[in-house]
Amino acid sequence: MKWRYYAEDVLPVWVAEMDVPLAEPVAQAIIDAVALGDTGYPSGTAYAEALAAFAAKRWGWTPAVERMSIVPDVMLGVVEMFRLVSHRDAPVVVNSPVYPPFFQFVESLGRKAVEAPLGADARIDFGSLEAAFVRAGRGAVYLLCNPQNPTGTVHTAAELEEVARLSRVHGVRVVADEIHAPLTTADFVPYLSVADDGLSLMSASKAWNLAGLKAALAIAGPGSARDLARLPEEVSHGPSHVGILAHTAALTDGVTWLDALLEGLQENRALLTDLLAEHLPAVRYSPGQGTYLAWLDCRGLGLGDDPSRTFLKRGRVALNSGLPFGTGGAGFVRMNLATSPEILTEAVERMARAWRET
Ligand SMILES: Cc1ncc(COP(=O)(O)O)c(C=O)c1O
Repeated sequence: MKWRYYAEDVLPVWVAEMDVPLAEPVAQAIIDAVALGDTGYPSGTAYAEALAAFAAKRWGWTPAVERMSIVPDVMLGVVEMFRLVSHRDAPVVVNSPVYPPFFQFVESLGRKAVEAPLGADARIDFGSLEAAFVRAGRGAVYLLCNPQNPTGTVHTAAELEEVARLSRVHGVRVVADEIHAPLTTADFVPYLSVADDGLSLMSASKAWNLAGLKAALAIAGPGSARDLARLPEEVSHGPSHVGILAHTAALTDGVTWLDALLEGLQENRALLTDLLAEHLPAVRYSPGQGTYLAWLDCRGLGLGDDPSRTFLKRGRVALNSGLPFGTGGAGFVRMNLATSPEILTEAVERMARAWRET
């Protein structure tokens, strides 16, 4: 999508796909499946076992395989979790700015999204979260994004404990989208390691660039196991079997590749900081500790609420507009750092040219 959506002269640094060669063990798993004609329906718990082993090593937390279910992808998994733990029209609390489909999926279900904007430091503002819980009412759901797309904020154990406490006080169930978890430089704390009544969605799709190979896992803790047990069996028909093979290989044998990727992303964060200082010093950027997305505050450029329009029109560089990310998105753009230093440099140079021409 990243390289196909716009005309050829547009440099794409928008959608969350990475410009990386596939991890070799992942490529091999796909090649082996094709060679064998192993392209049928999924079966078994290999993906869940691979995630459990990865989580144990990486985060010191071992989710129980019997409390995991395969789902088609993270967002469809989120929708299924909503169905399990809330009434069909229960509102959904989200922390804006956030991944736009959080609003789109909620609205397409005929539900209301209730915003709890992050603070100016891009962290959860507990006053705004509690107010949103009160507005949403008992029986609502809270869709937590950890790490947060687009800011890269990695929520701390203390923050997650406060989330758990407030959600119990206000009768709100927590669904945690943890798709970006492997892409963290800080210590990542899985929500279920602090609150065993939550539900989590994880996948190898972001960290190993496998969005086209659909698969994800829904995870319950001891306190939510009975909820997940009610997941209709037919939901497990949705994920791709080849996707599951690829995700399993990534979590099992793709860790060296992931570590190299994380190093490269750190270098790109530093490069972006330097490039902005040189070419667009009025843009504010605080490198996040998770994800490969950079959330750029362009309000100092005087380009209005949607600077991505100027960058695209005049600079032929495609970034995500901040507007669909909800409150806090006006005047911002989201840039994808998971590319080569050359493309990153060219992208900032194009943005600067576009700005100078206004
Ligand atoms: C926070 C978040 N959740 C979900 C997704 C999409 O995941 P999936 O394709 O598995 O639905 C993305 C993709 O960028 C994302 O950033």
